[in-house]
Order: sequence, then structure tokens, then C-alpha cells
Amino acid sequence: MKRTHTCGALRRDHITKTVTLAGWVASTRDHGGLIFVDLRDREGLAQVVFDPAQAPEAHAEAGKLRAEYVIAVTGEVTPRPATSVNPDLPTGEVEVRASGLEILNPARTPPFEVGEASRADENLRLKYRYLDLRSRRMLGNLRRRHAMAKATREFLDTRQFIEIETPLLMRSTPEGARDYVVPARSHPGAFYALPQSPQLLKQLLMISGVERYYQLARCLRDEDLRADRQPEFTQIDIEMSFVEQTDVLDLSEELTCHVFGAVGIDIPGPFATLTYQEAMDAYGSDKPDARFELKLAKLDAVFARTEFRAFAGVLAGGGTVRGIRLPGGGSLSRREVDEFESTARRYGAKGLAWFQVEADKLKSPIAKFLSEEEQAGLRAASGAEAGDLLLLVADRFPLACEVLGRLRLDLGRRLSLIDESAWCGLRIVDFPLVGYNEEEKRVEPMHHPFTSPKPEDVGLLESEPLRVRAQAYDLVLNGVEIASGSIRIHQRELQEKVLALIAMSREEAAQRFGFLLEAFQYGAPPHGGIAFGFDRMVAMASGEGSIREVIAFPKTAAAVDPLTGAPAEVPPELLRELHIVIERPDDGEKDQETGG
Ligand code: AMO
Ligand code: AMP
Repeated sequence: MKRTHTCGALRRDHITKTVTLAGWVASTRDHGGLIFVDLRDREGLAQVVFDPAQAPEAHAEAGKLRAEYVIAVTGEVTPRPATSVNPDLPTGEVEVRASGLEILNPARTPPFEVGEASRADENLRLKYRYLDLRSRRMLGNLRRRHAMAKATREFLDTRQFIEIETPLLMRSTPEGARDYVVPARSHPGAFYALPQSPQLLKQLLMISGVERYYQLARCLRDEDLRADRQPEFTQIDIEMSFVEQTDVLDLSEELTCHVFGAVGIDIPGPFATLTYQEAMDAYGSDKPDARFELKLAKLDAVFARTEFRAFAGVLAGGGTVRGIRLPGGGSLSRREVDEFESTARRYGAKGLAWFQVEADKLKSPIAKFLSEEEQAGLRAASGAEAGDLLLLVADRFPLACEVLGRLRLDLGRRLSLIDESAWCGLRIVDFPLVGYNEEEKRVEPMHHPFTSPKPEDVGLLESEPLRVRAQAYDLVLNGVEIASGSIRIHQRELQEKVLALIAMSREEAAQRFGFLLEAFQYGAPPHGGIAFGFDRMVAMASGEGSIREVIAFPKTAAAVDPLTGAPAEVPPELLRELHIVIERPDDGEKDQETGG
């Protein structure tokens, strides 16, 4: 070994001992005579002193040191003089008086200071990720991730789960994103799809009799990226046989508390349960941040006979009027209120009606359109008191909810209503089985096509499919969807009914997952499961706003890796072997004809 101790380990107990440390130069300070070096390794920082009177050769060598040089130092641990004790550093009471120095490797000047990496541009951080990861913060995140993965495995092991790996070269899986595909060299024209999740395979494992499966599974989805989405991410993927919804949710809640507990975060249980409808009505979101109140109100009844055209038109068209009450918001300036309105429009609203609540009247440009009765009804239904501000949106239910739900979060942040130190877990249940895709004008699964309807709603499948509730559920932590799952359909007839509902033909179903439909005929047990977004859990536990901060080598929002340069072109020979011709937008057809 090139060292006897780690830098971070040195304490008063080591005084008088001769130690050898190895690591990276974090900083050097030449105090005209004495040279001080902060030496860094994985475990921490130690101060090394080079004294020309004590060790002239080592001191001369130390004069060459620059940031990020890799060195080994031998010397005696001594107490620091009282004036230079650093109480913020675990090793701050001691220093090493160097007797020998070996430069193991010099380093170029890094593009950013490792200790200041957080302040560097993210693209630069990602291009030099190996330097970025040297920082305390990033190393801490990687270690926390490790601890949470370990806690996951420990917990699930005690609950008789078996960890099973499933393939990455697969067929398309139905999670609703675009697939990443891999050409199959020996099968011209055929492609593997990288799994969007192990969904179909974990169901097959239930049919195999595994009963309790889990995997820290890599999932690959070609979708629009955001702070909480990466093209490849990790799920704690779980599937269980002979269970009901509550069994999966109870286990999932325990797992959540155990895994956060392992990194010192106490998540209070039991989690409250809200139905999807309750969550949307109260918070305008299916992943509510319930750390603060500020609930929405349904105002359809108040405006049922209104003459205000914007509301009347929406209600006549089957839409809804919803509002949010901002206690004390009446004192906000007109400019601030106008800002809310433009934000609401940005979120897709056609407008935002507002009312300043005064003791005897409502002040608003549209107050004159509302009858006395409507104004009184609005006060009563929203619980408004003098000094409050009411914000109303009339629109289709999903849009009205989304706009007010997002406005609610903005207001919560802006008015500091959120207790940032609190942890609030929720179970959201009874999601609709299907939703209506306005753009594509078709019914599509809310979760995935293997999700079971609630038995009491099966009768509505043909008559009122949009009202059918599913045995589908999410876990939400502080407004973040951390897990999602469902009880699955395990009978072929019901599966076919649901596929018909989402207008998937027998042929298409047979082609895409005929193997699963066939497997259902060989004794499929009732089963269900859930998958956690592991990156999101680690990011939350780390206080990070983006999952990129807890992934060693993430991609940018443009799905690029600035470090390796992926994605990149491949040599023409490889394309030829794969029988692939590249058609560039500006190439025209000529290349196509000659290329293959
Ligand atoms: P779902 O698609 O809801 O369900 O995914 C489960 C959880 O994974 C996380 N997640 C993501 N995290 C980072 N980047 C992404 N692009 C991303 N997409 C999803 C979320 C989400 O709650 N097979 C089903 C689960 C099941 O039914 O058992 C599935 O994958 O936290
Ligand atoms: P307009 O009739 O479009 O001039 O709107 C008058 C006021 O009503 C404005 O403050 C609008 O923002 C508001 N308003 C219009 N449409 C809606 C709507 N769908 N929901 C809420 N407020 C609206």
C-alpha cells in the first residue's frame, strides 16, 4: 500500500505517529518559508506542512505542486497551533509535518476548481465529469445512492424477494415512450428494443412461479427530458403474486421509509390515501405536495346559471370552474395579480379571473357580471374572508386542474408556505383506467394496458370507459411521483376487452405481446407490482433538484453525453454489416440508392 491512513481519518489520537497519506492536492499556500498543502482523498482533507528547516528536499519538491497533482506524503502527525485549529474540519486539530514527498502524477490545470465545481457550467461539469465527481457533494451523492441501493436489497431480501436480471435486448415494452432500438446484425431489418421497463418480463416471472421478484433495473426511454427525467434511469422494480393492492402499497411504504431511514431521513407514516379524484379536486394534481394547505374549490354549482360568458360557455361545454383562495392575498398589487394571469395563460388557461375579497364586496373587473347570489356563493364555496384573493379558472377539467395545480405550487413557493424540512408521503389510488388523448383523438391507458380495472367498474368498460377506475396507484413524496404500479389483468378475456377498448387490434396485440397473452393461458396467478424511480428517491434524499446530480454519468437535456460524445456516428463498414442506410434530411434519394 502506498499509504498508512486516509486523509480524512487523522485525529488527535494520531499525534506523534508517522503516517503516509496519498491523494490529490486540493490547494497549496506558500507562506514564505512554510508551504501548506491541503491533501484530499475520498475520506476527507488533511493539512500537510513542508518546513525547509525540517525537510529541505521535500520542501523543494513541494514548491512544484499544483492543484490536482497526485502525491504521497510521509510525516509525523502533530497538533496544530491553537490559532490555526479548524473546527469545521474533522481533521482540523492536527497536521502532518512532511518528511518525504513523492509526486505520483502531475496534473494539468483543471477547467474548474474541484471544490467550486457546483458553480461551473453544467456542460463543462459533464464534459469533465471525473473531475466534477471529485467534489465532496458529488462523492456524497454517489455514496448515498450506494447506501440506498444496499438498503433496498437488504429490505427486500428480508421480505423473501428474489433479485432477477432481465435482458436489455428485448422487444418493445408498452410504457408509452419512444423506444431506443438496436439493429440486429444477423437479422437484416430487425431490431431489438431496449426495455422501457421490465414490465412484461416481471409478469412472465409471476407466471413462472417466482412469486416475489425485484430488480434494480435500468430502463430506457426516448422521451422529452427534464430535471426529473433521464433517457436511462433506474427503477426499483417489484412484482408479487397472490396479492391485493393494499399488500403492494403497504410493502412499498415500508420500503420507502426503510430506504430513506438508511440515510438518516425519517419519513413519517402512515401515508394518507387519496383517490385520484380527491387529489385532483383538492390539489389540481395527481402528485400533490401536501406539505402545505391551499386547496382548490369546485365552483360549478355557484356559476350554474351565470351570465358571465366565459364561465357559462365552459360549463355548457362540459367543463368546470375551479378556484384557489389565497389567504391575505388581497393586498397583492395589481401588477402581481396580472403576473398570475400571464402565468396561468402560459400554463394553457384562457384567462384567470380574480377577486379581492373585501368585507362587504368582491373587487374585480368581472364582479359586475356576477349576481349578488353568485358573489355570496363564491365566498361561501371558497371559504373566503376579507383580505383574501380568489383566483378562478374555467376550462376542461384536466386543464383547469393543471393550471391551478401549478399556480398553487408557484404560490406555495413564492409565499414560503412550504415547510422544506418536512416529508410528506401519500398513496394515490383509483386512477382512471384510460384517458382521452385530445391530440390523437383516442382512448389510451393511463398506466399500461395490463392494468386491471376495479372489479366493480368492469361493467362500465363498454358503456362508459372513461369512468372506469383501475387498480392502479402511485406513491408521492413531497409532490414527486416516486413510484407507480398496478394490479395486473391475469385473465385473457379481460385483457382482450381492455385491448379492444384502447383500440388495439388482435393482430397488433398478438404481434406486440402475443407471448404474454399466450403465457396467461398456462396458469397465470393473480399478481401486481410497482416500480420506484430510484434516481428521484436519491435526488430527494440528497436535497438535489435534478436527478442528474445523483447519476454518475448522466445525459444533458438534449440526451447527449458531453464526456464521451455519445451519440456519435459509426464507421460505414459497421452500417453496411447492419444493412443500414442513413438518410439525412438534405441528402436526397441518391445516397439511398447507392448506399445499400
Ligand atoms: P412508470 O412508467 O410509471 O411505471 O415508472 C415508474 C417510476 O419510474 C420513474 N420514472 C423515471 N425516472 C427518471 N427518468 C425517467 N425518464 C422516468 N420515467 C419514469 C418515476 C415513476 O413513478 N412498469 C411500470 C411499473 C409497474 O406497473 O410496476 C412503470 O415503469 O418515479
Ligand atoms: P375576457 O372576457 O376574455 O376579456 O375576460 C375577462 C376576464 O375574465 C379576464 O380577467 C380573463 O382573464 C377572465 N377569463 C376569461 N376566460 C376565462 C376562463 N376560461 N377562466 C377564468 N377566467 C377567465
